[in-house]
Formats: sequence, C-alpha cells, structure tokens
Amino acid sequence: MKKIAIVYWSGTGNTRAMAEALAGGVKDAGAEAVLVETSQAKPDEVLAADAIALGCPAMGAEVLEETDVEPFVADLCAKGVSGKALALFGSYDWGDGQWMRDWEERMKTAGGSLVAPGLTVHLEPDAVGLGACADLGKKLAAG
Ligand SMILES: Cc1cc2nc3c(=O)[nH]c(=O)nc-3n(C[C@H](O)[C@H](O)[C@H](O)COP(=O)(O)O)c2cc1C
Repeated sequence: MKKIAIVYWSGTGNTRAMAEALAGGVKDAGAEAVLVETSQAKPDEVLAADAIALGCPAMGAEVLEETDVEPFVADLCAKGVSGKALALFGSYDWGDGQWMRDWEERMKTAGGSLVAPGLTVHLEPDAVGLGACADLGKKLAAG
C-alpha cells in the first residue's frame, strides 16, 4: 500500500482542516495517510513515504511559519526531494498567495515534482475547499 506523508502546521485550525480532508482523499484512493504536525515530523521518515503533502498558512509577511516549518522545509530540501511527488497547501487571509508561489518555486528548484499547483484556501475551508483538498489527496495517492 502506498504511504503518503501529510506534514502540516496550523495556528488556528484552517490548514489542519485542509490536511484532514487531504488525508481523507488519500484513504479513499486506497493509500495510507500519515498525518503529522511539523514539530513532530522527522525528515528522514517523511522522505521515506511514496509522496509528501506539506501544509502551512501564509505567515509573517508572505512567508512560511518560521519556528517549525521554515527549518523543516530547509532540512527536507537539503536532504533531497529530487523526483519526489509533492503537494503544497495552506490557508491565507489578506495576501494574494505570494507565499505559496515562493514555496512552489523553492520546492521545484530543490528538484521536487509538484503533482498540482499549490492549493490555497481563504481562511476556513468551505465544502468546495475541502473537496479540493480531498481531490489533491487522491491525486497524490494515484501518482
Ligand atoms: C502572524 C500572522 C501572519 C500572517 N501573515 C499573513 C500573510 O502574510 N498573508 C496572508 O494572506 N495571511 C496572513 N495571515 C493570515 C493567515 O494565513 C490566516 O489566518 C490562515 O487562515 C491561518 O491558517 P491556520 O488556521 O492554519 O493557522 C497571517 C496570520 C498570522 C497570525
């Protein structure tokens, strides 16, 4: 069975809801979803999964959360995501998604293979947003 690691950070629960919906899509597609918060994630274990979804809301001024996510992503890229199937997702509020565009570019530069454009949802995901997360999970599991 394929194993999909879903690593996320969420301050107020919006990105967590996305991560949970994504995990639901992975399971519906017949794969195993390993849902873990960034602070608990070990890069080597995450890299051992068949595919990886990373979730983080827009923080700071259009950047990743800096205490847990930023060092985790730097570590992951340093260890090597080359050829790895990846999906990025996260919630935002007032921005235009610059944090996600920068994140996509960073993962592509590190050699990651994004299965879809970064999935962004405004604040709390509604049914449409949750459906898009589930679809992304299915896509990761299928890829
Ligand atoms: C400290 C802080 C910085 C933020 N910076 C941005 C930002 O640069 N751009 C943006 O669109 N939203 C920003 N937001 C809004 C969050 O991205 C938004 O509330 C999101 O839904 C939070 O997701 P979460 O519930 O998963 O933590 C910021 C929120 C906080 C608390």
